[in-house]
Parts: sequence; C-alpha cells; structure tokens
Amino acid sequence: MKILVTYFSQNGNTEKVARSIYEGCQGEDVDLKPIKEVDPLDLKNFDLVFLGSGIYASRVNKALSDLVAAAQELPPKFIFFSTHASKEPYQDGFKVVKSKIGESSQIIDEFDCCGDNIGVPEAMRNAMLERLPEDKRKEAEKHQQWLKGRPNEEDLQNAKNFAQSILKKL
Ligand SMILES: Cc1cc2nc3c(=O)[nH]c(=O)nc-3n(C[C@H](O)[C@H](O)[C@H](O)COP(=O)(O)O)c2cc1C
Repeated sequence: MKILVTYFSQNGNTEKVARSIYEGCQGEDVDLKPIKEVDPLDLKNFDLVFLGSGIYASRVNKALSDLVAAAQELPPKFIFFSTHASKEPYQDGFKVVKSKIGESSQIIDEFDCCGDNIGVPEAMRNAMLERLPEDKRKEAEKHQQWLKGRPNEEDLQNAKNFAQSILKKL
C-alpha cells in the first residue's frame, strides 16, 4: 500500500504528530512531507493519505483544501489528523476540506490531540490571563498548565498506535 502523511504545521506540534503517524506506518511504502512540498497531481498515486493541520481560529489551514481542490484525481482514502489547544476536538475544523472531497473519496477515520499554544508568546498569554476575573483566570491557568509540552510522549505514542491500528484494519 502506498501512503502519504502530509501536514500543515505553523509551530511544529502537528509535525510531531505527523512523524509519529509516519513511524506507525513503517513496513508500508510511506512518504512524509509538509503540505507545501506535495504536488496535487501526485495525490492520485497514493492508496491512503493522512492529512493534518493545527487548528487556527477553529479551522485547519487553507493549504489542505487548496491541495484537495487542485488535485485532478483524489486517492481513494483519507484520514484526518489535527492538534488544538482546546480540551475537546473541533467537529468542524475540516468542514471545507470535507466539502472539497465530497463523495470522491472515503474519510475513514480522524485523530486529534492537544498542542501547546506555543504560537502565542508566553508574555502575551500571561497578560491575557491577568485581564481575566480571578475564577476564570484560575481555570485558564489550569488549562495552560495541562497543555504545557503537548503533544507529549503519550500523545505521540497514541498517534503511532492509531496509525498501526488503522493499517491492521485495511
Ligand atoms: C493563530 C492561532 C490560532 C489558534 N486558534 C485556535 C483555536 O481556534 N482553537 C484551538 O483549540 N487552538 C487554537 N490554536 C492553538 C493551536 O491549534 C495549537 O497550538 C496547535 O497545536 C498548533 O499546531 P502547530 O504547532 O502544528 O502549528 C491557535 C494557535 C494559533 C497560533
């Protein structure tokens, strides 16, 4: 099976997850590439594409839907993956990508995990916390602490296990 793992990652969290998915696909014919290096006309040459991004303002980066839209033919199967700073995954993060794929391919599964909000400088984050009322600030500080260093070893192992379990099922 020919597999592509491709991603948009502004600050490196999604890239780490992509690498773990790639590790989980070892034993197959698998490529790992940032999305800007993928030729849309090549997509049809893969049996399965793992397509990932961080979540920015509730959505994945536009590069994902642009890639899908520019492909003349799509691979038969996609799996989405994302990292986000919220506790819960975003139901609609891939909405535009899904609409571009339409009925052409199957989206067989999705993986998500938390990613520390390292894109916002710590001083700015602290300034934002200070402006909150005390109860909200305590909650936000707890959340910030919980996010610190994510994706962590466990998140990355989960990503690798996820890829391995998908390949066993196919
Ligand atoms: C400009 C910007 C906007 C973001 N918007 C959201 C958001 O709407 N929801 C969320 O949960 N996380 C948001 N985040 C946090 C990122 O999704 C999270 O840190 C993710 O792991 C970033 O992935 P990356 O390191 O691959 O770029 C945002 C981060 C940045 C820098």
